[in-house]
Amino acid sequence: MPARINPSILSADFVNMERDLDRIGTADYVHVDVMDNHFVPNLTFGPQMVERIQAVSPIPLDVHLMIDDPDRWAPGYAELGAFSVTFHAEAAADSVALARRLREIGARAGIALKPGTAVEPYLEILGEFDQVLVMTVEPGFGGQRFIADVMPKLDALHAERARTGLDVWLQVDGGVTVDTIRIAAEHGADTFVAGSSVFGAPDADAAIVELRAAAAQHLH
Ligand code: DX5
Ligand code: ZN
Repeated sequence: MPARINPSILSADFVNMERDLDRIGTADYVHVDVMDNHFVPNLTFGPQMVERIQAVSPIPLDVHLMIDDPDRWAPGYAELGAFSVTFHAEAAADSVALARRLREIGARAGIALKPGTAVEPYLEILGEFDQVLVMTVEPGFGGQRFIADVMPKLDALHAERARTGLDVWLQVDGGVTVDTIRIAAEHGADTFVAGSSVFGAPDADAAIVELRAAAAQHLH
């Protein structure tokens, strides 16, 4: 299985979104960061904008919700047709019920963990999720440094996946570059979000190809 590379449009030009989507034709999924200025100290956009991106993007959307009360808001993103909807464990009142609802609507259900959040409680309910997002920066902003200290969480998820045979994708997000992607792949990640290292490159598509190749050498 090749590494999945999901460019984060947080680093795209917000007034030229359609043009920037054209720069990432080789992406596997388009990573869409929704921020509400409450769960994180930054604000991006909501369902109306994501619906427009969904309408114009030939590549399916991987929505990352950095918002309070995802129990209330996340299903709407599944309903507008997102391929996957990932909410934060720290924000959800009932992670299992919410994941089941997202699957029922037809999206893949993802759960995200901030760097300080322990993974153990989620190992025993891993089958409820299609994706676990291990944050490698504090959520809120692009362009931060990769936190390698969270790699033991990936090790634990990877071991549990191997033990159970579950088909759950292990995603990392934050500070992913051609160097740090190798570290995450070695620890079991298979799905990689990259914002500044893709959109900051002169040739975004070439950067995606390079990231995928770097990860491939270290994939499990
Ligand atoms: C951070 C977002 C990321 C961000 C990553 O809170 O969830 O998706 O765009 O940006 P880079 O790759 O620049 O760290
Ligand atoms: Zn993200």
